[in-house]
Amino acid sequence: MRLNQCHNFQDFRELARRRLPGPIFNYIDGAADDEVTYRQNTASFDSCDLLPSVLQGVNAVDMSVTVMGQRLEMPIYCSPTALQRLFHHQGERAVAAAAEKFGTMFGVSSLGTVSLEELRQKHKNPQVYQFYFHKDRGLNKAMMQRAKDAGVEVMMLTVDSITGGNRERDLRTGFSIPFRLTLAGMLQFALKPQWGINYVTHEKFALPQLDEFVDMGGGASSIGGYFSEMLDPSMNWDDVAEMVQDWDGQFCLKGVMTAADARRAVEIGCTGIVLSNHGGRQLDGSRAPFDQLKEIVDAVGDEIDVIMDSGIQRGTHVLKALSLGAKAVGGGRFYLYPLAAAGQPGVERALGLMQSEIERGMKLMGVTALDQLSSENLRFR
Ligand code: LAC
Repeated sequence: MRLNQCHNFQDFRELARRRLPGPIFNYIDGAADDEVTYRQNTASFDSCDLLPSVLQGVNAVDMSVTVMGQRLEMPIYCSPTALQRLFHHQGERAVAAAAEKFGTMFGVSSLGTVSLEELRQKHKNPQVYQFYFHKDRGLNKAMMQRAKDAGVEVMMLTVDSITGGNRERDLRTGFSIPFRLTLAGMLQFALKPQWGINYVTHEKFALPQLDEFVDMGGGASSIGGYFSEMLDPSMNWDDVAEMVQDWDGQFCLKGVMTAADARRAVEIGCTGIVLSNHGGRQLDGSRAPFDQLKEIVDAVGDEIDVIMDSGIQRGTHVLKALSLGAKAVGGGRFYLYPLAAAGQPGVERALGLMQSEIERGMKLMGVTALDQLSSENLRFR
């Protein structure tokens, strides 16, 4: 199977599965507990049907959106995800460059493997910085200042990861940073020697957002240690209100799921919220963001930009989310499998396919701009 034979999410997933050692593939592919939420995230889009308008004259369609003050040429952006260097040696560089070609936003994670400064200097498309809240308030301020100085447009605080999700696939393979593989995990690496050769012949793995704080050599501060020792489980609304003030710019919370929390996000001055369950990787049994979207948009949609991620695989999923009032959507796995499968050309192909699915979907729906979509275009069964 080659890249040009990939026509959808599942094709890229399959190519990534063939290329990656099992522990790494399963880190991307896996989710928490029984992975019920992970499956439901995508299945929820099937609970409603699109209602197209015909004879609308749809020669030219414009799929741009403005979200959190940023103009995006397409309504889906590349959410921040961790450890991209492990999936392909080009890592975040491939994702940022591909996103730039398509005029969309990309995210850089605190656990990213390329520095936020390098990417901000190289590319013109809007950049999100995904941030965790540390016990050390000085460190939080310093990291925000670093992002500010670099010119990062959007701060995105993850609020659904106050503790790690129970990823049982990772427990089975021993996936952790640094690797503490089980025997089965080691065998799976041995089965993919090409990945190993590629890995050791390219730039060394690093976490430049955190290199002063996390020792990749396997000392006390592994990533597991970083989460349990450095992140602050006492984080509350007052703490975040202070961060929002300090940042004094576009600031969103990723992982808000209730109307009450969405309201509080408005009250503390956030400019956006991302409905998300972290791709099913945190609280299994939590609701799919798409199922919760209408309630949140009804509550705060006039006051704050409502965004969603988790489960999006198709252009029509994007159109359904926008019909219910999302300003834009994010995706992780939809570009991570392509990254793992083929680096930058893979991500570009995935974005290109998504762009044509959205364009085709808009024409078939009879709209030439995304603000023409509304809940009138959807019926729940
Ligand atoms: C994950 C974290 C690192 O889902 O965002 O693996």
